[in-house]
Amino acid sequence: MEEGKGMRCEDILRAGSGTFETPAYIFDLDTLYHRVASVKEQFGENVILCYAMKANPFLVGPLCKMIEKFEVCSPGEFRICERAALDMHKVVLSGVYKNEADMQSVVHFYESQPTYTIESMEQYRLLKRCATEEKIQIEALVRLSSKNQFGVDKKVLEQILEDAANDPHVRIKGLQFYSGTQKRNASQMIAEIDALNTYSMELEKRFAVRFEELEYGPGLYTSYFNNEDAQDDIILQEFAKAMREINFHGKIILEMGRLIAAACGLYITSIVDIKETEGIRYCIVDGGIHQVNYYGQTMAMRTPDIEQIPKRTDQEAKYTICGSLCTVSDLLAKQFPLSGAKPGDMLVFKKAGAYSVTEGIALFLSRDLPGVYYYSEEEGLKKVRSKQPTDIMNSVMGMEIEQ
Ligand SMILES: Cc1ncc(COP(=O)(O)O)c(C=O)c1O
Repeated sequence: MEEGKGMRCEDILRAGSGTFETPAYIFDLDTLYHRVASVKEQFGENVILCYAMKANPFLVGPLCKMIEKFEVCSPGEFRICERAALDMHKVVLSGVYKNEADMQSVVHFYESQPTYTIESMEQYRLLKRCATEEKIQIEALVRLSSKNQFGVDKKVLEQILEDAANDPHVRIKGLQFYSGTQKRNASQMIAEIDALNTYSMELEKRFAVRFEELEYGPGLYTSYFNNEDAQDDIILQEFAKAMREINFHGKIILEMGRLIAAACGLYITSIVDIKETEGIRYCIVDGGIHQVNYYGQTMAMRTPDIEQIPKRTDQEAKYTICGSLCTVSDLLAKQFPLSGAKPGDMLVFKKAGAYSVTEGIALFLSRDLPGVYYYSEEEGLKKVRSKQPTDIMNSVMGMEIEQ
């Protein structure tokens, strides 16, 4: 079945009829697997995929057989991988803040299984201390900065290489680079990976090392909105073609979040109220901007792909779709055509698989976090997380307010 088509959406919801509560996310695993297979095919054997799990941690388990590396950026993300029993050889332990106690414990329990990234001289020293205490050698990538707080500049990178050359506990096996998301221009990505490759060759000569890996996050584009050309496939094809021609003697690892996760996600919210105020038709839903997130979207200036369920044949009327937060910015769509909209109808937001479940302002208004479901044709709809209350996180625990 084709990704994100109308019938599929109704099928998925029918699969959960009776048990289905909104707001909710559904991650369609068939679409996810189809996506990964197609991305892998386009890049060919030259490239290894690394899933940046910050895009959607719920996909770690489903992806663990298909994806060779997982970029993990916090102790919480690491615990999610432990819970999913992910093979720690697949973990690239990244992140701009690595805390001493956490690193000691990871190095103690998992030793050299994960790849560690180094984002500062201080992180290098910390990892070196941890590995020395355990009397082991760990493998690391040094992250080259793209002129922001992440990674190190060339001067510090070279100091680290110099020091590591004489150190038995940290082996630098390559470089890492990421400069941002939603890149519309394949030539920018090609230039970045070429520059990283050229720099790595220069370092190999100067420091008499041989790098095994270059890990690059291209920030590939996902088209979200109805009025834009669906350029994402063209950009992906152009970049993938160039990657087939790149000449690096080791492994090229591409870190990706959005490109892998976006298409498989549906965010489902129900209409709870309908009104007309000062000549504008409003449709209020039980979800909102705290739960669905499209990069580049503010104040519903652009319209993502939304489907009304059930489909009706009534005449269309245009609505401003608003969420349930106490802010005028909780706008999901403007002038959106709905047919005979009624409370209880569901609105399905497509391509909500990346950065919706993780990036929302989830604690605002203390509303419950949505339930999460996996769907596949074979297994149907399966609840993997119930709705979660957030009021507990916004309360003073064990203390009554004096009045
Ligand atoms: C270091 C790193 N790699 C990869 C990614 C994933 O980026 P994208 O979702 O654009 O593929 C991110 C996202 O923030 C990142 O910080």
